[in-house]
Order: sequence, then C-alpha cells, then structure tokens
Amino acid sequence: MAVYDPPAQDSGTFAHIQWGTTMAPIYGKITGWGAYAPGHIVTNHDLERTLDTSDEWIVQRTGIRERRIAGAQETTSTMAVKAGSSALAKANLPATDLDLILVATSSPDHFTPPVSSQVQAALGASNVPALTIVTGCTGFVYALVVAYQFIATGAYSNILVVGVELLSRFLNWQDRSMCVLFGDAAGAVVVQATDQPCGLKGFVLGSDGSQSQHIIMPAGGSARPFSADVLAEGSHYLQMNGREVFKFATRVVGPASGQALQHAGMGIEDVDWIIPHQANLRIIQAAAREMGLPLDRFVVNIDRYANTSAASIPLALAENLDYRRIKPADTLLLVSFGAGMTWAAAVVQMQPGAE
Ligand code: ACO
Repeated sequence: MAVYDPPAQDSGTFAHIQWGTTMAPIYGKITGWGAYAPGHIVTNHDLERTLDTSDEWIVQRTGIRERRIAGAQETTSTMAVKAGSSALAKANLPATDLDLILVATSSPDHFTPPVSSQVQAALGASNVPALTIVTGCTGFVYALVVAYQFIATGAYSNILVVGVELLSRFLNWQDRSMCVLFGDAAGAVVVQATDQPCGLKGFVLGSDGSQSQHIIMPAGGSARPFSADVLAEGSHYLQMNGREVFKFATRVVGPASGQALQHAGMGIEDVDWIIPHQANLRIIQAAAREMGLPLDRFVVNIDRYANTSAASIPLALAENLDYRRIKPADTLLLVSFGAGMTWAAAVVQMQPGAE
C-alpha cells in the first residue's frame, strides 16, 4: 500500500516508494480484468422514434446496432468502481494493496476533483496515488503504457488501470450525426510486477494537436466558459467532423500497429488477437484489409456497445477473457485513435509462457 509517510529526516527519497533493489528486469502481468456496461439498452430502432435516422443507415455506416446508456443514478466514477472492483476481485488483490490508480476518461464526474481520486476513495484505497489521463479514445492504451513504465522502474508493483466513459451526458440527443455513435461503459485491468518475462513488448504513442478541432467540446472550458449563450447554442456538447476523423483513423491504425510490432521485434503472426478501438466497423475492416488479415483476427463488439471511447478496448478485452475467447496467456495488439488527435498501439503478452 502507498502510504504517505514523510521521512523524519530528508533521506533523499520518499519512504513509500519501494525502488527496485535489483537490476533484473521487472515485467508486468495482467492478473485481473473487469468490465461494466449499464443495463439500459437503446437500440437503433429505439432511436428511430425520436430522430430522423434508421437502423439501416446506422448499421451500414458504423456497424452499431445498440448501445448502453447509464441510468440517472450512475456517474463515470460509479461505473469505473464497478469495473475496477471486478478486476481487483479477479486478481485477488485488496484495493488497499494498490500502489497506483490510473483512470482514462474524457467524461469525468466533474472537472475538479479528478475522477481518479473519487474512484480511489470509493474503492477504499486510502492515500494511493491516483491519476486521470485525458487523451480521448486512446486513454486506456496511454494509461496502460504509463502503468508499465512504473512497473519497469520498480517504483510500483500493483496498478489498477481503468478506461471509462459516460459520453451520453455530453451529447446533443437531437443531433443524429453524433448521438447514434456513442455508448457508456467501463473496463479495467490490474497489472502486477513479476520477474517472469511478459507484459508490454512494444508500443507507440502519438498526437497531432494541429488537428484537434475535429473532435471538440467547443465550450465549457477556459477558452469559452459556460454561459447562457453556450447553453442556447449547445456548444458544450461533443462535436466531431466525422469524415476527417474517419480519414485520420484509417491513416494511423495500420502504421501505428506496424510501429508497435517493430518496437516489440514481432510480426503480426506472433499476435493472437488485435483489439482495435471500436469507433466504426468500416475503420476496423479497412485496418484488416491494410494488414492483410481476416476480420476474425480482430475483436469486434461495436454492434452491441457502439463507441465507448476510452472504455472500448478494456471492455472488449475483459468480455472476451470472460468468454474464454481470449486466453489469459495470449499476446494482444491494442490499437486506438481519438481526440487530440491522438493514436496509441501496444503489444502486450498478458502472462509469461506465451512465447
Ligand atoms: N441517420 C441518418 N442520416 C444521417 C445520420 C444518421 N444518424 N447522421 C448523418 N446522416 C446523414 C448526413 O446528414 C448526411 O446527409 P447529407 O449528405 O444529406 O448531408 C449523410 O448522412 C452522410 O453523412 P456523413 O457524415 O458524410 O456520413 P459518413 O459516411 O461520413 O458517416 C460517421 C458518418 C459514421 C460519423 C463516420 O464519418 C465516422 O465513423 N467517422 C469516424 C468517427 C470516429 O471514429 N470517431 C472516433 C473518435 S470519437 C472520440 O474520440 C470521442
């Protein structure tokens, strides 16, 4: 457990950090996973009743058939806690033994306090450091890569990584071009230090901020604070230039995957499953074509959950581990793109012995 315990005299370090005492490499094993999706299902046919849209248009353009929408009593932190608790239970790790909590989201309960601290408190992980990572849909992969860095330095041994999103509260439900695309969910993994070779084999992270205007909440932040005008215009809602994001996604997914594999010294044939960000089935199909792979090498669940942003990859991972479609010792390629505009790809060998 990470307790803030200031040394009586300056010892040049913090007492609560157990720096690695050996030069042997420290690896990270995924020992637990969990997911949570709200019970309320909204189908495309449900949306046909309130919007000028059709099941046919949504399925053809996106592959989405239904999405989960959080209930009135749910928030981003309550969903994160559900997924995080499941992951901790699977790892058989008490929350009090965590050294770090990372929460990836763009839809926190509040701007302040950080949602990661709310999750920490609700889990009962007293004084454990907690950090929110805000890189849009790539947030979980960014957070996972950050977790592995702390493991590799020996600073921390037990890390909870959560990807969670409650975007339904940030959408204009009259805007058919946006509200049909997203759903609410959470997913989480526990990464624990081990001396057995496994874990993060290679990764690439990137961002082209010059294109950030393509996915934006124009108002509600410091650039344009909330006001009656903002409310009247609806410029506090999430907006997206779908065509530009589509082009960006199809441009980055293949090269990012290739770079992560190259960094890992591996080929695509060494990977059991590719788990892409679930934004649009056509983007996943384009990636499969570019990589020369059949679609069944990719984990796809966009039909049932729509785009759950930072939750999409951990949700797909946890669900498929639970179904035993993904085996605990499999090697995975995670690849994502999103607001920022950011991209992230990581090759992860979940447990030792998969070589
Ligand atoms: N139902 C019916 N018609 C619709 C709907 C709808 N729900 N939404 C838009 N249309 C109409 C448009 O009004 C337009 O009509 P018009 O030609 O008369 O003007 C027509 O359909 C075509 O619209 P486009 O936006 O060109 O449709 P496109 O084929 O590009 O599909 C989509 C739109 C699905 C958004 C696609 O561009 C896409 O998936 N882009 C990528 C999105 C993405 O990956 N986002 C991930 C990041 S999000 C994040 O990080 C938070």
